[in-house]
Amino acid sequence: MKRALVTGITGQDGRHLADLLTAKGYQVFGLIRGQANPKAEMILDENPALELVDGDLRDLSSLIAAVEQVQPDEVYNLGAISFVQLSFKQAELTAEITGLGVLRMIEAVRIVGGTDNNPIRFYQASSSEMFGKVRETPQSETTPFHPRSPYGVAKVFGHYTTLNYREAYGIHASSGILFNHEGPRRGLEFVTRKITNSLARIKLGLQDEISLGNLDAARDWGYAGDYVEAMWMMLQQDVPDDYVIATGETHTIREFLDVAFRIAGYDSWEPFVKHDTRFDRPAEVDLLMGDASKAKAKLGWTPKVTFEELVRMMYESDLAIETAKMEQGR
Ligand code: NAP
Ligand code: GDD
Repeated sequence: MKRALVTGITGQDGRHLADLLTAKGYQVFGLIRGQANPKAEMILDENPALELVDGDLRDLSSLIAAVEQVQPDEVYNLGAISFVQLSFKQAELTAEITGLGVLRMIEAVRIVGGTDNNPIRFYQASSSEMFGKVRETPQSETTPFHPRSPYGVAKVFGHYTTLNYREAYGIHASSGILFNHEGPRRGLEFVTRKITNSLARIKLGLQDEISLGNLDAARDWGYAGDYVEAMWMMLQQDVPDDYVIATGETHTIREFLDVAFRIAGYDSWEPFVKHDTRFDRPAEVDLLMGDASKAKAKLGWTPKVTFEELVRMMYESDLAIETAKMEQGR
């Protein structure tokens, strides 16, 4: 039975990856931080086969202890401050966790190492946010980086740290440059889930409007369930490498609103959306669109869920959640 250690286990991707690896017969260990992390119960209910291990990406000795305890075949480093807007307000903490956290995690892998004939394989959750003010469209593994947020800068550090450990120490370390991926488990702070959740509440008469920032930004949005498969595929290769994972399609926030409100049975979203400057960013990433042809050729990976299917899945899930809450009087 293969053993995997996943950081960021309580996050959207950690939960999808735990399900995928469990279904593949892995024993999955999730790194959990804090004294009584309120999300621990929820993820254990969701995946009872999961085991939790204490640790924090700010604390190297806790990471070494976790790797020693688990003796993993594979480590997936998904833990981060992942909300770009928050990274502008807490830039130092973002550098600490999203940036230096990668160095600590891969250093723990280097120190513990695994056996000579079974060295630990490492996956780093890099991001399309590294492309920032994009130099070309679509963006591929060879597109230069120009990050536009403290989060993007920290991810560039983590990305190059992963490459450096691969080149310097021969670690089987791969970096997935993943474009935005969403789904019903997406945090409510991100724009897609904020829209589908608010829309469900508008439909049920619980809310009147949605306050949003820049509606003109364009993102390459895929489904998280498809994207965690790519993470696993990268670690099954003989040779570690870096891969862009994306759909190759781009849509503005306006287009997301068009599709979501149409699915919910409205002719127009304009009467329900108001602009709130609190959601504008000091520097914006205007356009992301990925070229995942390397992942298709080398990993055999392609996305399955379409943009419309993704929006529908998220809206229907939020409608069911909000209806259940309403019926329970919450
Ligand atoms: P997410 O839902 O925000 O989850 C972030 C996870 O990081 C949570 O489990 C959180 O734990 C954990 N974490 C935060 N601080 C930590 C610390 N000090 N020590 C250990 N763990 C800590 O993010 P996601 O959407 O699943 O994304 C997973 C990874 O992929 C992140 O690295 C993100 O930056 C990257 N990424 C995401 C996307 C995307 O579109 N989703 C695209 C490209 C890259 P708590 O619950 O305890 O806070
Ligand atoms: N969150 C949010 N809230 N975003 C808004 C809002 C709002 O009210 N209004 C407009 N937006 C715009 C943002 O300005 C941005 O251009 C776009 O919607 C997407 O914002 P997010 O959903 O917060 O995602 P992100 O693209 O900044 O970052 C996500 O994707 C990255 C990959 O490109 C995160 O998951 C990152 O962790 C990830 O690396």
